[in-house]
Formats: sequence, C-alpha cells, structure tokens
Amino acid sequence: MRKLTSIVSYPERGEGGNNRYRGNCSPKLIEDLIGFFKPQEICDYMCGSGTTRDAAQKCGIKSHIYDLHSGFDLLNSEIRERPQFIFWHPPYWDIIKYSDVMYKASEVESKYGYDPRKFDLSRIQDWDKFVEVMNYAMMKQFAALEKGGRMAVLMGDIKKKGKLYSMLSEIIKPGTAENILIKAQYNCFSDNTQYSGSFIPILHEYVLIVRKDNPLMIPIITTKKLELDIRDMHGATWRDIVAAVLEDEGRSVPLSVLYEKIEPYKKARQNQWWKEKVRQTLQLYPEHFESTQRGMWQLKRAVA
Ligand SMILES: C[S@@+](CC[C@H](N)C(=O)[O-])C[C@H]1O[C@@H](n2cnc3c(N)ncnc32)[C@H](O)[C@@H]1O
Repeated sequence: MRKLTSIVSYPERGEGGNNRYRGNCSPKLIEDLIGFFKPQEICDYMCGSGTTRDAAQKCGIKSHIYDLHSGFDLLNSEIRERPQFIFWHPPYWDIIKYSDVMYKASEVESKYGYDPRKFDLSRIQDWDKFVEVMNYAMMKQFAALEKGGRMAVLMGDIKKKGKLYSMLSEIIKPGTAENILIKAQYNCFSDNTQYSGSFIPILHEYVLIVRKDNPLMIPIITTKKLELDIRDMHGATWRDIVAAVLEDEGRSVPLSVLYEKIEPYKKARQNQWWKEKVRQTLQLYPEHFESTQRGMWQLKRAVA
C-alpha cells in the first residue's frame, strides 16, 4: 500500500480508465485517496474514461460516475446522490477539447437530446467565463455533499503567451480547506512541445481537498480581480509613485507634469505638503531620478 503524502507521483500510470482518453488521470491517485479517506462510495461527475469507477472497483467500494458524453451535464442535470466523497477532474480549460474531439457531439445529441458542445467546459474560450462556470460546478457539487463529506479536485495550471492561468488560484474554495497535494505530471500533452527559453515547463498538477463541516454555513475563499492605480494604493511610497509617473511618461518632464499626474490621487489628497514631497523625493534618490535641465526630470535607466 502506498502512503499518501503532500507530493504524489505515479510514473507508472496503473490499470484503469483509458490512457488514450486525453487528459485522463492515474487510477493510483484515486486509489490512494480512497485508501486514505476510506469513503464507502465515491462520485465523479466528469468521469471521462471511467478511471474513478475502476479505481473504486479495485478498492472494493461503490462508484457513481457520469459525464457529458453519456447523458449527464453537471451544469444542468440533477445530482442525485448526497456524496461522501467526490473526485472531480475538470477539463484543463480549453487545452484539451472533449466534445467532437474525444467523442462525436452528434451521437450524444441523437442519444440524449442535447448538443454537448453547449455545456462542455473545455469549449469555453474566455478564461474568466471558464472560471465562473468552474466555480458554479464546484459549488453545485459541494452543496450536494453530506456533512463531513469531501471533494478532491485535480487541476492544472495553464500558461498562454507568457501569462499563467491557474485553476488552483482562481477556483472558489468552499468549506474547510484540508490539503493541497502536488502531483507530478508524466506523459503530458505538452511534453513534445519546444518552448522558448523563457518558459518554465509545468510538470505538476494540484489536488485540492475540501471538507464540508457544517451543513448550513459554508466558509468560502474566493478571488477578486481588481486593477488599482498605484497613486491610490496602500503601500506605495512617494518614490514608487514619482518613479511610476516618470516611467509612464518615458521622457524628461517639467515638475508641472508630475504635479498634474499626482494631484488628483489619494497620495496627494492625504498630504497638504504633497508638492514639497514630490520635490524632496526627486532630490532624495539620485540613483533613480535625474534632472536634465532646470525643473526637468526623468527616470534614470537601469544599466543593462
Ligand atoms: C479531464 S477529463 C476527466 C478525465 C478522467 N478523470 C479520466 O481519467 O478519464 C474532464 C471531463 O469533463 C467532461 N465534461 C466537460 N464539461 C462537462 C459538463 N458540463 N458536465 C459533465 N461533464 C463534463 C468531459 O467530457 C471530460 O470527460
């Protein structure tokens, strides 16, 4: 019996599910979760190739598995169980598409009467929309749990055009956060991709484990996206603000421009001597600010 630790690694995938179903996971992870938490049953509402069913069978427990490809849409279908343990392995945003790639949408439509492409999380193009839908699916599953029940959510990070899209960071976290496991990733889709020097290949995924301790009151951790002006921001010093204005201007400017760009903001409104502060700051940091002629200032470029 393997011991479950905060880092899990399964170089040999193991038997169960289908390793040709893209984005499938190792049954060993699910076996280890079952072995550790000892649920009597396990549910998986995005079961893909059925890895959870096979892992449960091996561990001698019952499973309830569903997927969009076989008549169950987590966004609109009813969850019939009150699960004790849910294993959830959502799509990695749009990196691997499922409907009409792993299975034919037309076949699902003729069999179950809906076009799966409309509800497939992997077909949501916009990241923020994906996060919104993922979070709805998270809360729907969490709401169905019995008291003491758990969800283990297997997720990855996605990097596109130099930007990180982290499912773990942005997923809503209801209940008691119990563990975050790091799972080493093998044979992943991106292994054959040649990256430029500035890309750190992602070789791990995460398993977030949350527990429902209270049936009525659910603590929630959620992310909020904001854009703040540095001139209104707590923690920004006069040096940061003067440097930011000069950096934004990208040229030598008269003091009047600095005043004009700073006056309307909190930093200036909270200090009646703000003009003096601007002038003092320019003098205090000769390593950052230089005067090109009387009353004209620019940011000193860092030496390359
Ligand atoms: C990463 S795969 C799961 C792989 C699975 N753990 C395995 O080992 O084969 C994600 C699955 O989510 C399913 N899916 C996407 N949107 C869904 C929805 N709205 N309702 C139910 N399943 C959905 C896809 O069809 C796909 O099979």
